[in-house]
Amino acid sequence: MTLDLEKIESHRLSHPRLREMIREVLFFDRIDSTNRVALEMASDGMPGGLLILSDSQRKGKGRLDRHWFSPAGANLYFSLLLRPYLPTRDFPLFSMVASLALCDSIQEATGLSVEIKWPNDILIEEKKLAGILLESKTAGGETTPLVIGIGVNVNVGPDGFPPDLEQSATSLKAVLGHPVDRTDLLNVILESLAAQVSLLQEGKKDLLIQRIQKECTTLGKRVHVDTLRQEFEGVAEEIEDDGALVIRMGDGRRRRILIGDITHLREHAEHR
Ligand code: BTN
Repeated sequence: MTLDLEKIESHRLSHPRLREMIREVLFFDRIDSTNRVALEMASDGMPGGLLILSDSQRKGKGRLDRHWFSPAGANLYFSLLLRPYLPTRDFPLFSMVASLALCDSIQEATGLSVEIKWPNDILIEEKKLAGILLESKTAGGETTPLVIGIGVNVNVGPDGFPPDLEQSATSLKAVLGHPVDRTDLLNVILESLAAQVSLLQEGKKDLLIQRIQKECTTLGKRVHVDTLRQEFEGVAEEIEDDGALVIRMGDGRRRRILIGDITHLREHAEHR
């Protein structure tokens, strides 16, 4: 199933909130990374409201400099360039916005419940279904650009992942046993994203934080934390309003982390 660009455009035009959030859509068959191109265009002064969508990526970027598996004809890879009227310290909240939008839209489009693992991994059956990469650049103009990059594993078959991802990644097709229409899914995701973005722009930060506290399955779990400088274990207690995760250590101290990798620990097994 190919992406139906006309359907994406007519859906955008017929939904006022979407029309407001996305002013222009650029589609590529193949590109190195939708995030990279969005950031480059932002540096060249592109206004907010640009959606870059590609059928495949040669150098899809994941968090912490990882590679994002981006084969053609199967999944969704897109980046939304915004220039939010919010202080840059609030930008990490867009990661919650995108996680909640994915959670709601995947449920709506497929009936599947997904889990949010801090900071913004979208999991099904403890395997990674989708990822979010936020990137920003120091402002060249009045407003700082923010790029929200989203990759969703939609129609890669259960045997379609490379060996290093086989155990840790999944797709909607692998879980449902049938393919999902990428265009319809994208339209639902964008609508949901527009709803969550307007909540944040309207100053309803508290609502977002309350919801993420409810939906994030990392909370209450014993976790291994790798901040890239240090590793430790503890219990994930809370997400603060700047998106930081608070960990209660064995000695009772609480530590805040803003960047890092979390592994949910189980009695007998670990899931990254
Ligand atoms: C993660 O590591 O979980 C984040 C993955 C983000 C992947 C998406 S695919 C579209 C956009 N362009 C990129 O190069 N990366 C993001």
